[in-house]
Parts: sequence; structure tokens; C-alpha cells
Amino acid sequence: MPPTLIDGKAMSDSLLLELTQTVQQFRANTGRDPGLAVVLVGSNAASQFYVEAKKRACHRVGITSYDYRLAASDGQGALLELIDHLNQDPDIHGILVQLPLPKGFDEQLVIERIQPSKDVDGFHPMNLGRVFQGLSGFRSCTPYGVVRLLEHQGIATAGAHVVIVGRSNIVGKPLAALLVQKGVDATVTLAHSKTRHLSHVTQSADILVAAIGVPEFITGAMVKEGAVVIDVGINRIEDRRQPKGYRIVGDVDFDSVSPRCSAITPVPGGVGPMTIAMLLNNTVEAARSHAGI
Ligand code: GUN
Repeated sequence: MPPTLIDGKAMSDSLLLELTQTVQQFRANTGRDPGLAVVLVGSNAASQFYVEAKKRACHRVGITSYDYRLAASDGQGALLELIDHLNQDPDIHGILVQLPLPKGFDEQLVIERIQPSKDVDGFHPMNLGRVFQGLSGFRSCTPYGVVRLLEHQGIATAGAHVVIVGRSNIVGKPLAALLVQKGVDATVTLAHSKTRHLSHVTQSADILVAAIGVPEFITGAMVKEGAVVIDVGINRIEDRRQPKGYRIVGDVDFDSVSPRCSAITPVPGGVGPMTIAMLLNNTVEAARSHAGI
């Protein structure tokens, strides 16, 4: 039987529709729009693409996005100054600094400069730590999107062995934090580049999450028959047959993995749209909490 394709685009569309109504209510109650500052430093092509997608989605639901572009040569001081200004601005409820930052920038310092109540990416140690302890706080967007997708798809996590391949601060670690919480109740293995016998570990996964950033790294032989496979990767690989000269693939080799699994997220159209939906969700939450709603 072919696997279920987990349609993140459809779920994101329906969440955006719900958010549109929440934003309308917010406007009726406060006379204001939720505001998201979108900060891009440098000229990374993929980052420019993501930032544009995030701004378009804001527009769709009625969040005002404020665009800030800095050149890499403006330096870290200018970025920190901008963040200080945005932290104080009452029209800005969320601050998104697109990562990665250019060489020479200290990402951790930048992340920690954002006021935790405006950290809608959920990258500040205060939010990450609170989420780890099962307290309220902004959840990182991609991990939150993965958990919501599993929930929506009716994929049971309680007692399931979830293997996450990749231990980044953006995906792997915060996803492990969400999955081990009471109510989600997964048993989590966080695998990485130094994990011994990686195939052996991945083969024991009921749910396998690929978040390594290596195109088509997970192959069919690494996947247990009937497993659920969540592909977090978004990689551009050269393809001269495509009009743009490249195509987008995930961290999963879809052709060899899909015949073995029970459900799988496609790339594009799986986790990616959910990341954006969760960013907007967090921004609306930030605005409501700022207004005391
Ligand atoms: N770079 C890759 N993913 C993300 C994300 O979710 N937020 C930000 N700010 N940068 C990213």
C-alpha cells in the first residue's frame, strides 16, 4: 500500500484561515494589528526566499510585517541597536531575525538580545528552557509544526520511539523537548553525526524525523517497515533540467523510503508551510498577551 502523504500545506492553509479570524477579533478588541518585525541581514538567497514567504503569509492573515534589511557590512552593532529599538516599539509584537547570520555575527548574542516576550521564533534560552520544563513559552516554530502535524494526522506519539536525526538548536533539541512532555509522551532518541550504528538506531524508530541538512541522507534501508517519516530538510540541489537550474529535496530519499513507510511528509509541502503557520500563531499569541487578552 502506498504511504499516506502528510499534507502540511493543507493543514497550514486551514490554520492560517483560523488565524485570520483571531486577528479580526484582535483588531475589533484593540483597534490595532499584530506586528511582526522581519529582519534580514546580508544576501543569502535561501533566506531572502523564506523571508518573502513569511511576509506573504503575514499579509494573508492580517499581521502587519515590518521589513528591516541590513547589509553584512553594517555589522553586529547595528543589528543589536535595531533589536533594542524593536524591543521598545509597541507596534512590534514579534521579532524574527532570519538565520543563519553572515560570517562574523554571534548568533547566540543576537538571539539573547531579543526580549523573550517578542521571541516568536522560540530561540531565546528563556523560552527554550521554559518549554523544556513544560512551562508556558514560545515553542520553536518547526518543532511545534511537526508536533501539530503528527497530532492532526492522528499519529500516536504516546510510548512511540521517535528518532530525531540532527541536534540543532532550531529543530532537533527543541523537538526532543516537546516530544518528551507529559501528554505527548514519546520516547526520544536524539541522534547526530557521532552516533554509532546510525542505521541500526533509525531502524528502531516508529517515527523518524530527519533534520540533518544533508540532501536525501535517509535511505530506505535505514527505515523500519511501516514507520512514519517526517522530513524537515529543505535543500537546493543542482538540476539542469529544471528552469531555475535546481530543485528542492528533503533530507529523506523519498523514492527509496516511501515504499517502506506508512506515512511521510513531502518536500516541498510538508513541514515547511507548518513552520510559517506556527510563526504567525506565535506572533498572534504575542500580540494578544501584550494586550492582556
Ligand atoms: N532559519 C532556518 N529556520 C529558521 C527559523 O525557523 N527562524 C529563523 N529566524 N531563521 C531560520
